[in-house]
Amino acid sequence: MKSADIRQAFLAFFEEQGHTIVPSSSLVPENDPTLLFTNAGMVPFKDVFLGRDPRPYVRATSAQRCVRAGGKHNDLDNVGYTARHHTFFEMLGNFSFGDYFKREAIRFAWTFLTERLGLPADKLWVTVHVSDDEAERIWKDEIGVDPERFSKLDEDNFWQMGDTGPCGPSSEIFFDHGPEVWGGPPGSPEEDGDRYIEIWNLVFMQYDRDAAGTLTPLPKPSIDTGMGLERIAAVMQGVHSNYQIDLFANLLKAAADVIGHHDITTPSLRVIADHIRSCAFLIVDGVLPSNEGRGYVLRRIIRRAVRHGHKLGAREPFFHRLVAALDAEMGEAYPELSKAREQIEKVLLKEEEQFARTLDHGMGLLEAALAELDGEVLAGETIFKLYDTYGFPFDLTADICRERGVTLDEAGFERELEAQRERARAASQFGADYGAAIEVEGETAFTGYDRLEDEARITALVDGEGNALAALEAGQTGVVVLDRTPFYGESGGQAGDTGYLEADGARFQVTDTQKQAGHHLHHGVMVEGVLEVGGHVAPRVDASLRAATMRNHSATHLLHEALKRVLGEHVQQKGSLVTAERLRFDFSHFEALSAEQLTEVEAIVNREILANAATGIEHMSLDEARARGAAALFEAKYGEDVRVLTIGSDGFSVELCGGTHVARSGDIGAFHILAETGIAAGVRRIEAVTGEGALAYFREQEARLARIGERLRAKPEQVESRVDALLERNRAMEKELERLKAKLASAASNDVLAEVQEVAGVKVLARQLEGVSGKELRTLMDQLKNKLGSGILVLGVADADAGKVSLIAGVTDDLTGRVKAGALVNHVAGQVGGKGGGRADMAQAGGSRPEALPSALAGVPDWVAQQLG
Ligand code: ALA
Repeated sequence: MKSADIRQAFLAFFEEQGHTIVPSSSLVPENDPTLLFTNAGMVPFKDVFLGRDPRPYVRATSAQRCVRAGGKHNDLDNVGYTARHHTFFEMLGNFSFGDYFKREAIRFAWTFLTERLGLPADKLWVTVHVSDDEAERIWKDEIGVDPERFSKLDEDNFWQMGDTGPCGPSSEIFFDHGPEVWGGPPGSPEEDGDRYIEIWNLVFMQYDRDAAGTLTPLPKPSIDTGMGLERIAAVMQGVHSNYQIDLFANLLKAAADVIGHHDITTPSLRVIADHIRSCAFLIVDGVLPSNEGRGYVLRRIIRRAVRHGHKLGAREPFFHRLVAALDAEMGEAYPELSKAREQIEKVLLKEEEQFARTLDHGMGLLEAALAELDGEVLAGETIFKLYDTYGFPFDLTADICRERGVTLDEAGFERELEAQRERARAASQFGADYGAAIEVEGETAFTGYDRLEDEARITALVDGEGNALAALEAGQTGVVVLDRTPFYGESGGQAGDTGYLEADGARFQVTDTQKQAGHHLHHGVMVEGVLEVGGHVAPRVDASLRAATMRNHSATHLLHEALKRVLGEHVQQKGSLVTAERLRFDFSHFEALSAEQLTEVEAIVNREILANAATGIEHMSLDEARARGAAALFEAKYGEDVRVLTIGSDGFSVELCGGTHVARSGDIGAFHILAETGIAAGVRRIEAVTGEGALAYFREQEARLARIGERLRAKPEQVESRVDALLERNRAMEKELERLKAKLASAASNDVLAEVQEVAGVKVLARQLEGVSGKELRTLMDQLKNKLGSGILVLGVADADAGKVSLIAGVTDDLTGRVKAGALVNHVAGQVGGKGGGRADMAQAGGSRPEALPSALAGVPDWVAQQLG
């Protein structure tokens, strides 16, 4: 049975049992920052189990793409070394949301395996949790499984999605691949072997686990099951390794072909065939290689694959060339893969090229370190150097060491990493660590969401070097900390506010506001007077700059959503900078936007501005926000309560954000994109202006048009036709120039004709010319032959500086029976250090001795005389 047929049979079976077929979700869990990747079939249903996401069905079934690399369920290190581990796999599952429970789940699974797939009961083995007497009874009494093929286990039979989330005891079904494969039944000391393979896990979902580890019962007991498609395919196809199933056969062959290594059983080929699946699908789902979060996991997998290819001798990028084979294998079940094929190839190629540049050097360093190894542990410093200088992820080095039986000093590596972070911190933005000087309890209260002026008490003063001060005097630069402030401290990409802190006779100009450990640091200079700790000031934010910043910030939210709508859901924020002058937004997308796409994005944002909808600001729990579909950066760490911003008409953009925003979208005024560029592989940048910035931009463009018009003596609306007329005239003049040049050349050829000699009644011309190019030589030869009507000609050009000679010989058709142009040009070329060839009527040659050209040409009439005689 083919993998595709098994997938189909599974979904059909559960559909018959009243389940709704739900398509596979993205590998990037939607609005779930607690999880790196979709690592099980139940992930898209997490909130349904928790009772927060009501659906029109209580039974569902799916074939869900999953990645287990990084995070709680991480199989990366095992891939290539066992018969059954993958970074990417498909999980077949059936789910009950408070509908059926253990009895039906067990019966469905058993019926599907033994009746639909026809697996013999004596090849199966069942486990349940030690505490689960109910499941044990169902299996033994109702299903009638052999007590000899049954065990009760502890941790292995409790399943949880991640550190938090739905979980419960489970029951697993194993397949016995037979005594010829090494391994023992579950719970035995040999269980890690490949003989007994878990094929199906039935989880009896009963609890929600919180971060503290407390288990709260779910609203209703539910069912989550998962069966790896690759494992059951191996069973059905009578092979013991997943890598021998139909799906992998072609991938392995393709990998062998592109690398030129033909032993299909090599573990490295398996690693590559596995990794192309996870890498390609991660890219399909909008992940791009980077140095953090999901992007870093992707980078690690790509690099691991490339390293294994390198090990097999690949010296050119090869990994991206496997996308075609994968598409052929899986494109039908996953049309999104076919659609993204070109993009995947580009991303992979780029990453391969980048890594290739350091791979050789890094391998050299590692080989040397391994050769010198005293003992069996690779030093943390070496691992760090490979990581830091050569881009070797820790697990890549571990992978290589594992092949050599060497272990790694992980603690030493962590120490080096921490030391580097420390250095980075020390070298960050401000030379001084203001934290040490600010011994103030609590945090600065931020009042700037709804006011720009306030009354506040000075809680700390710090000078430019980070020393605490009692007073700040006129002329001094430093930092002022207040108990409360309307000044926004730089965060979330929004620049810090500027303005003044004023007191009787004292004025501190704030040039920037930063945040540190909950305090707002007002950086600036004492313009006049003195401020003292404990004194009072009136902080006043520069209102016009703040308003401009807010316009840009709110427009950034609209832009983000507009990009998603025009380009697709893979668009993810990669960075953002919002100042009073402009906004800059970085996002994942592989190629440059077309002019039409940019126009469309801009039009959508302006439409939302004109809709003039009121901005919604609400505080709610993170879960509620997620349920609203609020966009949030995965890496962001939000507390339980979050601030949710809704901007635009009908909830157009919903994002978690702590920034300051316009009250109504119309306040943004106008939005105009200045530039769209690429800043890294797969990351684009848009820069734009709003409000007065946009008006200033339009005015400047208009003024420029007026200046051009003045020079052309045209009104702005006439400029285009005037430029067209100028270009037309330019083209006509170029043509005229060509014509005149040709005329001159023709006149020159008349001069040349004056030198024709007669040799035995045949016209012969051998002539050296100046400053004529190779192409012009051919034209000239044609003209001369025409004018002469009948004759034998040789033209030569010498370039003394370059030490080069160009020759051309021509013989009119009536004479080619007697003298060949090829022979003639060779005769001359031989004397100027060259050789040539061509047809009987026209032949060209080069030479290297310009000084010999005059005498070589002078000898032509004699040579012709000999030929004719
Ligand atoms: N969620 C369960 C698993 O992944 C079925 O094993």
